[in-house]
Amino acid sequence: MGDSSGGPASILIIDDEETILDGCRQALEKSGYTVITSSDGHEGVGLARVLKPDLAFIDLKMPGSSGMDIIDMLSREMPDMVLIVITGYASIVSAVEAMKKGAYDYLPKPFTPDQIRAVTKRGLEHRSLKKEAERLREEKERMERSFITFVSHEMRSPLVTVMQYFETLKAIAGSELSDASRDIIERCEKRLQALHDLIEHWLDLSRIQDGSFSKAQAPLVVTDVVEKSIEELSPLCQRREISLEYTPRQDAPRILGDAESLTRVFSNIIGNSTKHTPQGGKISVGIDFDEFYVYVRISDTGEGIPEDKLPFIFEPFFRVKGKEERQRGSGLGLTFVKKIMDAHMGKIEVTSKLGEGTTFVLTFPRLYEL
Ligand SMILES: Nc1ncnc2c1ncn2[C@@H]1O[C@H](COP(=O)(O)OP(=O)(O)OP(=O)(O)O)[C@@H](O)[C@H]1O
Ligand SMILES: [Mg+2]
Repeated sequence: MGDSSGGPASILIIDDEETILDGCRQALEKSGYTVITSSDGHEGVGLARVLKPDLAFIDLKMPGSSGMDIIDMLSREMPDMVLIVITGYASIVSAVEAMKKGAYDYLPKPFTPDQIRAVTKRGLEHRSLKKEAERLREEKERMERSFITFVSHEMRSPLVTVMQYFETLKAIAGSELSDASRDIIERCEKRLQALHDLIEHWLDLSRIQDGSFSKAQAPLVVTDVVEKSIEELSPLCQRREISLEYTPRQDAPRILGDAESLTRVFSNIIGNSTKHTPQGGKISVGIDFDEFYVYVRISDTGEGIPEDKLPFIFEPFFRVKGKEERQRGSGLGLTFVKKIMDAHMGKIEVTSKLGEGTTFVLTFPRLYEL
């Protein structure tokens, strides 16, 4: 019986009784398996960690170490390894407990060579089925991702076109538009913008997941990216009568990043601030750095986030229940932001005080330059 990599399957047996070890070795080597044995629990765990066998038999009762603990440890460390517990007496209770801790099967003493071979065969079959299922699941996930990415790409251009048509329509019709018509157009624009943001988020994320993201990472100065987002959002702030304060910092050191997705990170956070800051409020954006990191700080004097909700704001679809329709969003913005920050080996921290405002601090590792 071979393992998935083509060689003979390797089997570790941990039992303090030498006669059992010899018996198992003979029975299993006869069937072509590679057998490693250990009469000591500690040594057995060490061997398992180094040799990563496909399957391990573990005696439940050994002097000086508990088979139950070993099963617990190994099943956590190496979930791919099939663990089978050898029970010294007909103890169904401890066998059940071992299986709860991650053992796949049990073998009660005394057993015949045929019995140990049968249990081994079953265990290894289980292992290859599990591996195959895992491979299929990964393949399915990959296909789903690429499908959604494809759809997103295809949806983006017509969507952008429609948005431009609306812009043009407003420009052409201008003063001829009644307030009611203008209101409807603006509602459409808002919905289209939300859809557009969602698609952009998705495309960012799929670029991270399929690996093309790390290839697109290049040295950049965060200041340039921040300024792009500020440029994007200042008309909105003006309309809402929120002052947008920015302290430029041209001497910021470079980081390694993807300018496109980082622009969306900043736009998202500043965008959130505009949604949750009342007229007359203030949003401040600042850049700072030290020996190891570059920091971007975005604060607002908005409504704040309740303390008990703070731990959840990066969760998908989480939104603090707001009173106003204009706060509508998908609740995905910060989820994507967090993922993009992770892909930059960055950190995002938030502090907030209800009724006073919210501050996000984004930390990026400095690019090490010779
Ligand atoms: N600056 C802020 N002030 C107050 N609440 C905020 C702020 N930023 C985020 N939040 C809260 O966190 C929630 C999650 O934000 P997130 O950006 O993930 O979603 P969204 O803005 O609702 O939707 P989307 O970004 O997808 O349009 C928001 O719904 C809001 O309740
Ligand atoms: Mg948002």
